[in-house]
Amino acid sequence: MALKKIGVLTAGGDAPGMNAAIRSVVRYALSRKIEVTGIFRGWWGLINEEIKPLDHRSVSGIINQGGTILKTARCAEFKTEEGQSRAYQTVKKDSIDALVVIGGDGSFRGAYEFYKKYNVPCVGIPASIDNDINGIDETIGADTAINTALLAIDNIRDTATSMERIFVVEVMGRSSGYIALQVALAGGCEDVIIPERELNLESMCHGIVEGNIRGKISWIVVVAEGAAKAQDIARKITEMTSLETREVVLGHVQRGGRPTAFSRALALGLGHAAVDCLLRGETHKVVGIKDSKIIVLDLETAIRKKDLKVDHFYNLVKVLT
Ligand code: F6P
Repeated sequence: MALKKIGVLTAGGDAPGMNAAIRSVVRYALSRKIEVTGIFRGWWGLINEEIKPLDHRSVSGIINQGGTILKTARCAEFKTEEGQSRAYQTVKKDSIDALVVIGGDGSFRGAYEFYKKYNVPCVGIPASIDNDINGIDETIGADTAINTALLAIDNIRDTATSMERIFVVEVMGRSSGYIALQVALAGGCEDVIIPERELNLESMCHGIVEGNIRGKISWIVVVAEGAAKAQDIARKITEMTSLETREVVLGHVQRGGRPTAFSRALALGLGHAAVDCLLRGETHKVVGIKDSKIIVLDLETAIRKKDLKVDHFYNLVKVLT
């Protein structure tokens, strides 16, 4: 198949660095004489033919911006036969030869189903603050989200120390403890609660009381949203220790903002690699980084549940308290 036109979309939750990935896909494809069509609002845009050609200038000045110029959405309609069939009609009508899908596990699952049914060549670029794509080390945006959350935790540390309080800080991660673990470690936090490990609140509270007797005055406990709610944990800690506790939910602040150098560099490298993949005729693949090298893996592998291997970092948080 001659590769004349690529359609690029961002789907699922936005992640800082998505724009850098779009820029890379567009500019590299154009340099290889391939046209690029931007598909707006993820799969919804493919279903509803909300598309626009992208040129060199369409991606100027976006490398430093969070979010995505293509907009994004979670699209339930794409899970239906009707939705997929309409998306395929857009692909045919607009002569799109292949898709580059920038997103997380849900977006890749959609891409895989679509590929199986209609055989539309596609390559995925992993972008999600959750770092939950199997087979690779890190997704675009995770590093930025960690640094954003870390900044907030450093600020919370000041007031926690000054007012001698316990803080429970809830970070994003519906089924992944990646952000929680990284910020708990880098922020010198006293404890971390993640979906991958069972919570032992009694033992945590016992540690707090013991520490308090030794003169320890403040704590920060980081909790991943998928493991527990900060409000519940804070209430239980107060009940079990009689110490004053506050909770903070960082929420969507973690999803926005300037991408870090790492998120941008990763995005630029993967955008280039995705186009190269299609040029080589490889399809239903995902490009990613592993052991500091760009790799190509099957879409089928990428959508399997990731085993985060949390032990090392989890134990470090506990032992360094
Ligand atoms: O994109 C991943 C993520 O930020 C998760 O960490 C979080 O649980 C979810 O998205 C929130 O999604 P929404 O913005 O649709 O509420």
